[in-house]
Amino acid sequence: MKYIKDQENLEGKIVLLRLDLNVPLKNGVITDETRINKILPIINFLIKKKSKILIISHIGRPKGRINNDLSLKPICKNLESKTDQKIKLVKENIYKIKKDDLFKNSKYKIIFLENIRFYEEEENNDTNFSKNLAKLADIFVNDAFSCSHRAHATVSKITEFLPSFAGLQLETEISALKKVTTEIKKPVTCIIGGAKISTKIGLIKNLIPKFDNIVIVGAMANNILNYKGNPIGKSLKEDNCESIINEIFETAKKNLCSINYPEDVVVGKNMDDKAIIKELSEVSNDDLILDIGPKTIKKIRDIIERSETILWNGPAGYFENPNFANGCYEITKKIIEKNEKNQIYSIAGGGDTIAILNQMNAVGNFNFVSTAGGAFLEYLEGKDLPGIKALN
Ligand code: 3PG
Repeated sequence: MKYIKDQENLEGKIVLLRLDLNVPLKNGVITDETRINKILPIINFLIKKKSKILIISHIGRPKGRINNDLSLKPICKNLESKTDQKIKLVKENIYKIKKDDLFKNSKYKIIFLENIRFYEEEENNDTNFSKNLAKLADIFVNDAFSCSHRAHATVSKITEFLPSFAGLQLETEISALKKVTTEIKKPVTCIIGGAKISTKIGLIKNLIPKFDNIVIVGAMANNILNYKGNPIGKSLKEDNCESIINEIFETAKKNLCSINYPEDVVVGKNMDDKAIIKELSEVSNDDLILDIGPKTIKKIRDIIERSETILWNGPAGYFENPNFANGCYEITKKIIEKNEKNQIYSIAGGGDTIAILNQMNAVGNFNFVSTAGGAFLEYLEGKDLPGIKALN
């Protein structure tokens, strides 16, 4: 892998910089800025080298359609204030942009292309789209470890058409994860939560041989509860997961890994509702499961107590509403308690998980915090991430 930090002669070069600025937004307001803060070093590095920076990122999952709620505008504004640079957001169709026009106005050293997932070609890893993008720049830098598990055009295919380098944050994340995963102490527990069920459910099976305990919380646990015959009302759920879940339990049995999921839950009628604790059998048709209940919290705290290493990705509930954030808070508090006594090695990853830690001012109480969620889990699986493979 070639690293951008080792490159000379970047002056005047247009650097196509892939970032992951997929930050949480509420009504257009950024609710956690960690992913923006983490890419400041690469921006400052390239500015110092007198490069012209053409930024690509996605936000959300617009599925190939323009969606103004998922514009990169608020992120541009935020980065403008952090870098003290004028930043232009180009909304023009990528196929119509000409390289020579991009940095004509010398007041701009940083240009953003609008949300790259407005183009379906991005997720299709499209060759022609990548070639067109490559025509706009001189070199490509991937500083988006957290989306390097996606075989998408601006993560993977683009590297076939431009000299490509690893960015500073990507390098930091990979070397930290390499270190922690080789020095892991048992018993080791992985807590997996969040709402990206389709992304994560399939990889749990591959994680099982590496862990003593897997704790499944958040929306993902709804699928397990449903599989076990419990009512889940109108809670978020992925269809056709039964065979995957069956394999999860079979694999866990063979590998002596204990799979843990909620024993009680907290529900609301909508996301803005108040919290009601319920036994699993009490969940009614119009309930939404939005957090784990007190019995489940106690069980998870006990598992953490017995663990020497803990990896956590994905919230235990809909923490954006404080009524459903208790599960996340209690997990965090227990990890902090063990960490302060030096009794656990703790790693957390993912945009939402970082947002929780920031809310609790707890980032410093974890041994390592990765910006990556899905990529973090796939890395733990031992998979070759497409974005990393492409750089190699
Ligand atoms: C993330 O937030 O994990 C990355 O931005 C990838 O997003 P995705 O799961 O929508 O591909």
